[in-house]
Amino acid sequence: MKIEFTNLDVAKIKADLLVFGHYFDEKKPQGKLAELDQLLDGAISELIQQGDITGKEKETVLIHTFGKIPAPKVLVIGLGNYDRFDQDKVREVAAIAVKQGIKVKAKQIASVPFGIHHTHIHEHHVTHSFAEGALLASYHFEGYGSKKEEQFQVELIQLMADHVSDELVYGIECGTAYGLGTNLARDLVNTPGNLMTPAKMAEKAVEIARRYGMEYEVLGKEELERLEMGGLLAVSQGSDQPPKMIMIKYRGKEQWDDVLGFVGKGITFDSGGISLKPSANMDEMKTDMAGGAAVLGAMEAIGRLRPKVNIVAVIPSCENMPSGKAYKPGDVIRTMSGKTVEVLNTDAEGRLILADGITYAKKLGATRIIDIATLTGAILVSLGTITTGAFTNDSSFLDDFQKAAKKAGEKIWQLPTFDEYKEQIKSQIADLKNTGGRDAGSITAALFLAAFAEDTPWIHLDIAGTAYTSKESPTTPKGATGVMVRSLVQIAKHYGKHGMKSK
Ligand code: BES
Ligand code: MN
Ligand code: ZN
Repeated sequence: MKIEFTNLDVAKIKADLLVFGHYFDEKKPQGKLAELDQLLDGAISELIQQGDITGKEKETVLIHTFGKIPAPKVLVIGLGNYDRFDQDKVREVAAIAVKQGIKVKAKQIASVPFGIHHTHIHEHHVTHSFAEGALLASYHFEGYGSKKEEQFQVELIQLMADHVSDELVYGIECGTAYGLGTNLARDLVNTPGNLMTPAKMAEKAVEIARRYGMEYEVLGKEELERLEMGGLLAVSQGSDQPPKMIMIKYRGKEQWDDVLGFVGKGITFDSGGISLKPSANMDEMKTDMAGGAAVLGAMEAIGRLRPKVNIVAVIPSCENMPSGKAYKPGDVIRTMSGKTVEVLNTDAEGRLILADGITYAKKLGATRIIDIATLTGAILVSLGTITTGAFTNDSSFLDDFQKAAKKAGEKIWQLPTFDEYKEQIKSQIADLKNTGGRDAGSITAALFLAAFAEDTPWIHLDIAGTAYTSKESPTTPKGATGVMVRSLVQIAKHYGKHGMKSK
């Protein structure tokens, strides 16, 4: 999909669909919609008076122009209250426009840049959110049916702007990068486990790294053994798929001093292992690499935008399977950090591979770490499918990230990591045990990870509830959501601009 500017006016544009916005309770058409109204002999005013166009949020009214202007169809979208209109609404309205475009098979859309006249929305945020919404809405997962159904795609969106600035152009670049990064993550997560193996994830990572000239390394089993990554090795040992520790380094500045670490859980299928999961919905456990996918989606966007920040991306990846070789409840393993873990449930595998991922990121120079993982079913109980759970050992780091997530339009909420909870993961025979029981399951999982972050400022994002959805919205189809890609890119961009003030 291409997004560009046009200075042609409504009477001349040849798009298949023209898109306008109308604020709630506005009695008359405004701006470009007023121009259209004149060309259509007052049809829009009439529809407003009749109450067919109310401007209510998300309302869509499709109008045929019957040769009065070159464009055959016009869509008027309700923008809701003027005062409550913001960046998030721009994203959503752009997505609605594209969805309608697909529905009426409009290859070319021309649209007003919603919100451009709002003083409280920055120009580049207008085009950023527009492009992002348009790309998110155009996402479609191919699937594997033997008869390919052609998915209709909107090819061109022209923004009817009175002026073009660097700001506006940069906004489109950003929104495109955020959208493509998210869609890349969605593709990885939607791909079934037999096709998205650890080796395949590594291949995808290498593709991204090469595309943007980033350094990368994929460690195989022998190297994991040499580095004594006992967490990843233990979880992987029941599977015939060899484990991979995937690493990408992005150098956004001269010195490799301040380094932001992204660590993503890359379990390509989680059967639970010997502590086998029930079969109902077990297929969804192909999405257990969504954290790793989010990291790769973020690296794709970062490659396009090149913020002035260093990043090390680490994705421990393997399958969690039962077999005669599988690790077992009761086993004690030694992680790369030297810390030992008593395994009480082989289904609490994510924290074991992340432990090595976090240690490895630190070894590679990470001075701040964000890990991201479909870690616990318990987070789904606490926050449902709407909000990502966030945990930290450094409140000012999380402050920064919360602002970034808000800007990116993604919802996160902090849960506590009070020391008292640590009791639950103390082991009699090892440094830690890998489950803390039913109570506060997401918190004890986070505290397990905190033990490996140690003094390094760290944020943990539990996306078990938000990575996958069975409800569709204009920006998010059913299936993988690509959650947190945009927030990760946003925090990278923030530190690229303001520096990572080290503590
Ligand atoms: N991958 C699962 C968590 C999960 C659950 C993700 C539902 C997406 C949807 C994770 O590895 C897991 O099995 N966690 C266990 C931990 C427990 C054994 C301590 C859980 O949440 O039940
Ligand atoms: Mn599990
Ligand atoms: Zn898992």
